[in-house]
Amino acid sequence: MGEETTGLFHTVSGGFFGNHSLDGILFSFQIFAPQIILRGFFCGVSLINDSVYLAMAADQARLGQGHTWTNPVVGAVIVKHHQVLARGYHHRFGEPHAEIDALNHLADLDQARGATIYVTLEPCSHYGKTPPCADRLIQVGIQRVVIGQLDPNPLVAGRGVAKLKAAGVQVTVLGTTSALNKAYNFFYQHHRPFVTVKYAMSIDGKLNATGPQRTHLTSQAAYHDSQALRATQQAILIGEHTVQQDNPQLTVRTQPVDFAPWRIVLMQDADQLAETAAILQTPSPVYLLVRQPSQRQWPDFVHVVVQPEWTPQQILDWLTTQGIQSLLIEGGSQVQATWLASGAVDQLITYLAPLTLGGTGLPVAQGVPGAVQRSWELVQTQALQPDIKLTYRRSADYVYRNH
Ligand SMILES: NC(=O)c1ccc[n+]([C@@H]2O[C@H](COP(=O)([O-])OP(=O)(O)OC[C@H]3O[C@@H](n4cnc5c(N)ncnc54)[C@H](OP(=O)(O)O)[C@@H]3O)[C@@H](O)[C@H]2O)c1
Repeated sequence: MGEETTGLFHTVSGGFFGNHSLDGILFSFQIFAPQIILRGFFCGVSLINDSVYLAMAADQARLGQGHTWTNPVVGAVIVKHHQVLARGYHHRFGEPHAEIDALNHLADLDQARGATIYVTLEPCSHYGKTPPCADRLIQVGIQRVVIGQLDPNPLVAGRGVAKLKAAGVQVTVLGTTSALNKAYNFFYQHHRPFVTVKYAMSIDGKLNATGPQRTHLTSQAAYHDSQALRATQQAILIGEHTVQQDNPQLTVRTQPVDFAPWRIVLMQDADQLAETAAILQTPSPVYLLVRQPSQRQWPDFVHVVVQPEWTPQQILDWLTTQGIQSLLIEGGSQVQATWLASGAVDQLITYLAPLTLGGTGLPVAQGVPGAVQRSWELVQTQALQPDIKLTYRRSADYVYRNH
């Protein structure tokens, strides 16, 4: 089967595959004329096989999570005569791509001749850190390539498929694996990072009690969850008062990460940052986005970037040029107000603590003139006893993008 399979897959997926069992799919083929029953049967079984092998490839891809930026995670499985011959994945940025890793795991490279490779993302067609995978697949005699998702990166975007087809390789695109690389896909589709605002709040909508001390609102479960969230992000941003008052490290401490998220602080004047600040005690990248030049000597991992203004749009433009695909805003109230007003927030996560802080506590978002009403869609509610995590996405009718 060639690429026409894709259409059939989607038909099956819409009517039966998503909601019904294998019996449902087979039944659907039996209602056709007898002469096409067998063809339909084998076609249906082949589609099931394709999605099963691609799911195996997706499991491989997940092994690379947190290690591949600025590359996506990718997994691959090589199959011949219904036998899985090799699996592979992209382990780390700069290391072999998934297809090459899978080929390297074959007992004998000759096994590739006439085989099918299942790969979660379109094979690359350009010279980057490694030679093009599409060329290598052609060279070793792969007969069919089943692809989970076309690559939105303009360096690849359909060119890998075109190259394979031009060499007579059968190509099937199933379109089922885009969830593996949410931020990567978003970055290439919208030309900016995916933005999440995250905060803990009391039931009466406050970030902090009155006074200069940090209020600890949430429990251990919420702490571990927010650490896991940080591990998925390439940059974390906070405001000047938060760095002074909460003195956070902004690091991931509950699991190893190859790429520690950049720690970004919005400040008027970098020289106001205390030398003892916790953020300066760990040597992972810090960016101080400020409005006036600094007179201080900074350690190598601290970068001071001066601009007369740092609006959300300017921050996103700068991050885009740096290749940052995901940004987590971690407060405080004024920074949140600015970002929520800007319309550039894609996801909002709040940990609701079973506390009230009273009328003089600090509201979740305050300090930006003019009210801006936006609607959000609740996509997940999770109990993290005794707190509740609520995840919202921007309503589908509005997407803010860089042009
Ligand atoms: N519960 C939670 O999850 C949570 C999380 C984080 C923080 N907090 C709490 O929030 C409080 C701090 O919030 P906050 O509203 O006082 O301060 P903030 O949002 O942390 O920082 C605001 C300050 O950053 C400065 N800033 C510099 N460049 C900016 C820019 N481009 N955009 C926006 N601000 C910029 C602002 O100066 P200009 O006025 O000159 O613009 C302002 O002085 C603390 O009490 C902290 O404990 C709670």
